[in-house]
This record gives sequence, structure tokens and C-alpha cells, in this order.
Amino acid sequence: MKRIEIRDLHKSFKDFENKTICVCGWARTIRDSKNIAFIELNDGAFKSIQIVVEREKIENYDEIIKQMVGSSFKIDGKLILTPNAQQPFEINANTVEILGECSADYPLQKKRHTIEFLRTIPTIRARGNLFNAVFRIRSVSAFAIHKFFNERNFVYVHTPIITANDCEGAGEMFQVTTLDLDRIATSGKVDYDKDFFKKKVSLTVSGQLHEETITHAFGKTYTFGPTFRAENSNTTRHAAEFWMMEPEMCFCDINELMDNEEEMIKYVISYVMQECKDELEFLNKFIDNGLIDRLNNIISNDFVRLDYSEAITILEKVKDRFEFPVKWGIDLQSEHERYITEEVFKKPVFLKNYPKDIKAFYMRQNDDGKTVAAVDLLVPGIGELIGGSQREERLDKLISRMNELGLNIDDYSWYLDTRRYGTNIHSGYGLGFERLVMYLTGISNIRDVEIFPRTVGSIQG
Ligand code: 4AD
Ligand code: MG
Repeated sequence: MKRIEIRDLHKSFKDFENKTICVCGWARTIRDSKNIAFIELNDGAFKSIQIVVEREKIENYDEIIKQMVGSSFKIDGKLILTPNAQQPFEINANTVEILGECSADYPLQKKRHTIEFLRTIPTIRARGNLFNAVFRIRSVSAFAIHKFFNERNFVYVHTPIITANDCEGAGEMFQVTTLDLDRIATSGKVDYDKDFFKKKVSLTVSGQLHEETITHAFGKTYTFGPTFRAENSNTTRHAAEFWMMEPEMCFCDINELMDNEEEMIKYVISYVMQECKDELEFLNKFIDNGLIDRLNNIISNDFVRLDYSEAITILEKVKDRFEFPVKWGIDLQSEHERYITEEVFKKPVFLKNYPKDIKAFYMRQNDDGKTVAAVDLLVPGIGELIGGSQREERLDKLISRMNELGLNIDDYSWYLDTRRYGTNIHSGYGLGFERLVMYLTGISNIRDVEIFPRTVGSIQG
């Protein structure tokens, strides 16, 4: 008999009333009361189903009730509607096959664990409700992003992971080499001619520069893939390996850029709320009681659009409450960003027109000579969710800024072609995907939205 998946069964169980069906899964609980036993069976769907096992019908009854939580089963049985019970239906087993026994040291024998303990067992934790909900929402929100851009004529491009350029200029790159480091240590010198690419290369911190070249072929593109930063920030919001989603649009200024960001965020939230109701209700109950209200609130209100300089004026009024000093020109600290978005406005805030000295070389220089058309989206609970800008489309201005920053123009010649061949006002942004998942789930540590998190000083598997 063909197996039915439990997620599908929850949607269409009424069609199967009194029919015999086949399900497979792992036992979440096994309860025995002598002549009747109940298996709570889960196959990866958020909601499990109840299997009723009757001693008089099932030959291997005694063997089944000896099994540990975590064992896998194949069950043929009749679907019975149970409108007065907690679950709307159950399966009365005809046969129960034990597929794989589970050894007694399976960590989820106990029902409740702390999130910190679960973090130590990345290979197992997704088998429980919490991480099932989180990683399903991660998947559904990735899909919603693709759907959003696909519906708007964007072309999805795959930019390279290995690169010879530092897009953000922050020097936080992981070097990639086939040179033997131990040999170099003895010889005392590095010969890049002997390295795989015959030059120094790294893992990318952002696909933006490569992407911009292709955006000039299609007009609208996005890239969505892994990025890497050797940033020595041991915080709840920084990972060494994380996913970034980067749209880039020609003939688009900073205001249209913000419109796209706001529309995209609202679209993804609405889609997840529609597709992951059970998961969100669970997270709202056990992780963050304000989650669903907050998400509803974001969908139905406009985001704030504020200049960096105005934000500094707001912050200066209460500067004594911050650990880090506030004055025009500083790179905002997380405490500053959170004050603006969590306490002053209590909703997402676009902060724009930052001092040029704290932003990357490619951002469009404003007429004041001091600021660039950068825009970060700050959200309550997270801080910076998106970083983006209108790009400097004027070749001479771009080159002079690159010279000021000491960049080697020849290394970027391929990038500068975009400005030589039909330059135009264009803009783009990068969304930190893990931070979006944190925002959507109420999870407060980035280590709990990646299956195998990689953070400074820590890697498992
Ligand atoms: O602000 P960032 O550095 O912007 C860029 O890299 C641009 N090139 C993007 C673009 O315009 N196409 O990074 C973008 C976002 C941040 O807003 C943040 O959400 C996330 O990436 N991010 C991180 N997420 C997790 N761990 C880290 N170490 C991160 N660093 C940045
Ligand atoms: Mg940034």
C-alpha cells in the first residue's frame, strides 16, 4: 500500500474516513494500558497523529510496547474520525511493523529540554517540535522570497562563492588556499604562484559586485546563497556562515529600493502566517508571547523612513543611557539601533544617508559631500536586518572614491564596466536570512535558526 504523508493527511483526512491507509514515522510517545496502546507518530509534519494498537488485533503487541521513543514504524490501519477528541482523527492499526529500533540513549526520550541543551545536539534537535517549527519556517520563508521575486520578473542568479575581491572592504574574509600551511611555516614564505588560482582568494562576504554585472543584462536580479564572514563577533546575531538574499535593480533609486524592501518583508510574513499557522501558534506559546501580534502589526503599518542625522539628534538627547558615545559620524552600535526601533518607533525603521566614511565604496555619494545613499532596515528585537544602498553610477566619482580608499582599480575593472556600458541609477540590498528567520520565529539566538551553526570558535559536524 502506498504511504500517505501526515502533513497531507491533516489537510484531507475526511476523504479517508473508514479507509485503510499506510503511514510511516517515528514514535514521539508510546503509552500502554495493558490491552490497548497509543503511539504518537510523527513523520516530519508539525502535528503528529495518534495510532491505536489493540492487543487482540496485533500479533507483535508485546514487542511494540517495549520500543523506545524515537523508533520508526510502518503502520497499516483504518482512519477513524474522532470529532469529540483532541485530535480530529486517529488510525486504528491492522499491522504495525517495527522499521528501526531506537537505542535508550536517544536524547529526546525526555520531552522537555532547554534550548541551550538542544543546541549541543544539532543532529537530533530538529526531531522535536521547536526546531521542526523553526526549520519549516526557514524553508517556507525561502520559498516565499523566491515567489515574491519570481512574480516580479526578477532573474535568480548564482554568484560565485570563491572570490578575489572584498565586496564590503571590511577585511573579514576566510582565505581559500591549497597551499600547505605547515610547509609555509617552515619555509617562512608564501608563494601565491603555487596556489590553486595563482593569487590570493577568499570565500565571498556578499554576491553583490558579481551580481551587479548580470543585473545590467536582465534589469532585475536577486542572488540567494551562503556568505562567509570571519568577523570576531561572538553575539546572538552573528554567524561565520550565513545566507544572504541580495536583490539588485536597474533604473531604481533609494526610495524605490525601500518600497521593494517593505513590500518583500510584508509579503514573506503574510505567506509564512498563512502556511505555518500551527508552527507560529506553538512559537507564540512557548518562545515569544508577542510574536503573532508583532507580525500582524508589521504587515498592517508603514515602516518609518529616517535620516541618519535625525537619528543622531534623537540619540544625543538620551546619550547617557548608552554604553557607547553618540556623535555624528559614528557607526551605530546595536544598543543605538535597538533604542530607535524598539523604544522610539516600536516598528521597523529605514535609516538612510549614512556618513560615507562608515560605508562601502560602491554607495552613491550625496551632494552634501559627507553622506552616501545607504539604507539599513532596523527591526525590533534584531537590529539590522537589511543593508543596502543606491549605487554610485558615475564612473569618475566611483573611481575617485576607490582611490581615496586605496583600492586597486585594475582589480575592479570587470565591475566598473557596468558604469562604462550604459550606466544608470541602480540600487540593491542584502537581507540577512537567518536574522529574518529569527524575526519570524521569535528565536533570539542565530545558533538556533541554522541546522549546523558556525560561529567564532565553534563548529560541529
Ligand atoms: O550590511 P551588509 O554587510 O551588506 C552587504 O553585504 C551588501 N553587499 C548587501 C547588498 O547591498 N547587496 O550585510 C547584509 C545583511 C546585514 O544587514 C545582516 O542582516 C546580514 O547581512 N549579516 C549577517 N548575518 C549573520 N551573521 C553575520 N555575521 C552577518 N553579517 C551581515
Ligand atoms: Mg550592514
